[in-house]
Amino acid sequence: MFPFFLILAALLQIVLCEPKCGLVPPKNAIDSNAKTPGGGTGSGVSGSPDGSDDFTDVLANGWYPGWLASDNPPSNISWSKYNTLTFAFATTTTDIGTIALDSISQQALPQFVSEGKVHNVSTILSIGGWSGSMYFSNAMATSQDRSTFMKAVLGLVNQYGVDGIEFDWEYPGKQGIGCNTVSSSDSANFLSFLQELRTDPIGSELILAAAVSITPFVGSDGAPMTDVSPFADVLDHISVMNYDIWGSWSSSVGPNAPLNDTCAPTKDGSAVSAIEAWTSAGFPADQISLGVAAYGHSFDVSNSNALGGSGSQTLKLYPPFNAGDQPHGDSQDGQAGTDECGNQTPVGGIFNFWGLVDGGFLTPNGTAASGIDYVFDNCSQTPFVYNPTSDVMVSYDDATSFAAKGRFINEMGLKGFSVWHILGDYDDILIDAISDAMGIEMVCSSSS
Ligand SMILES: *[C@@H]1O[C@H](CO)[C@@H](O)[C@H](O)[C@H]1NC(C)=O
Ligand SMILES: *[C@@H]1O[C@H](CO)[C@@H](O)[C@H](O)[C@H]1NC(C)=O
Ligand SMILES: *[C@@H]1O[C@H](CO)[C@@H](O)[C@H](O)[C@H]1NC(C)=O
Ligand SMILES: *[C@@H]1O[C@H](CO)[C@@H](O)[C@H](O)[C@H]1NC(C)=O
Ligand SMILES: *[C@@H]1O[C@H](CO)[C@@H](O)[C@H](O)[C@H]1NC(C)=O
Repeated sequence: MFPFFLILAALLQIVLCEPKCGLVPPKNAIDSNAKTPGGGTGSGVSGSPDGSDDFTDVLANGWYPGWLASDNPPSNISWSKYNTLTFAFATTTTDIGTIALDSISQQALPQFVSEGKVHNVSTILSIGGWSGSMYFSNAMATSQDRSTFMKAVLGLVNQYGVDGIEFDWEYPGKQGIGCNTVSSSDSANFLSFLQELRTDPIGSELILAAAVSITPFVGSDGAPMTDVSPFADVLDHISVMNYDIWGSWSSSVGPNAPLNDTCAPTKDGSAVSAIEAWTSAGFPADQISLGVAAYGHSFDVSNSNALGGSGSQTLKLYPPFNAGDQPHGDSQDGQAGTDECGNQTPVGGIFNFWGLVDGGFLTPNGTAASGIDYVFDNCSQTPFVYNPTSDVMVSYDDATSFAAKGRFINEMGLKGFSVWHILGDYDDILIDAISDAMGIEMVCSSSS
């Protein structure tokens, strides 16, 4: 039956004269996957087992911020750089049977899905996010609640035709924005929900993913679980959100998205610690996607703290900053105001990578502009820039740090990367750097 299917597929290929294209993973990734046949029990995105037309197993994924769709329609996405894209966000509501999409997203999502089909990119709808996770705990609480919520999820799948669903629950069993419903049974209930979703005929075929923090889901005692392997049986992949590790809430300037922290003066987490934590808890590396940041956090730092005085031109790492004077980020930065919980929030201070070019920190080729101080932290393997006139220091990612993360993904045998967010890049500098470092490229077979 199986060979027959392959022959049929090959015949269709010839008849339709359609070139087959895919993002080809590096050779060693194919080899290491071959050593673990069946590794990854989730359904989904892997290619044929014999490797002959195995275009994928690598995940080249990013989040598309639906709320920016009016200025950046799906037609403007660099589709050829990805094989999966995740639409952010649908949000939980007080009514378990209703998952909300704002009006811009309702307009953009159908276009996003149809462009995905044209470009042969899998489309995933993400539910939750920082401000959309308030009612997950309610939706997972009882078997009846889970079944109501599942119907709502499958309703979205049916309505929009997405290939998958991501649960970006921030966070099961732990407070996020400040007013989420939280229960000590959240992680156990989340697992039951995913298992129940997999028993549904449609649910069993979906790409199922989760966006997760740098430490494993917490158990009923509030501590990270020591065995999260049952989640790996029902999820295709997790995207580890290795960013916002340091920011305006920290005690000093520090790396937004550190690759490493074992060599750092303060160990606040990193890609290295996150992969160690998740794999030690039984989540297979080849189902983990590294979340990477196409943005940075800004800090107000005096010249003497930034440069150490006495005419030094080398930026200091971890300098103190003036928390009372949070700089504005780029033109898309969130304003000071009131969040979804009704709490006062300061200006975000976020610069997208393009915003750093826009703001004169970087040249259009992504290097530090003239008059801007730059240092590359060899431990976090991320850069910092400083404008000594405005006192603004930014911890961010550039082509060098994205390339380092790409090499790390290959070394660790991870599934791939997930960029937050894909509209943050400038001229595809970051996406090209990580893809080149991983050795992935778009290849089309001849259809003759
Ligand atoms: C679409 O992509 C998948 C996986 O990336 C690949 O196996 C398939 O051949 C591609 N199809 C076309 C028509 O390019
Ligand atoms: C599309 O993206 C480019 C940058 O990649 C930008 O310059 C252009 O304004 C965008 N167009 C639209 C219609 O959003
Ligand atoms: C992280 O830092 C430690 C200590 O310096 C080093 O041994 C290790 O190789 C580093 N890992 C990566 C991926 O940079
Ligand atoms: C980047 O741009 C700057 C100024 O625009 C230029 O001096 C520098 O040579 C460029 N670097 C590369 C690698 O192209
Ligand atoms: C990082 O390493 C490079 C090359 O070894 C070196 O030139 C640079 O000074 C180091 N940076 C820091 C901040 O130590």
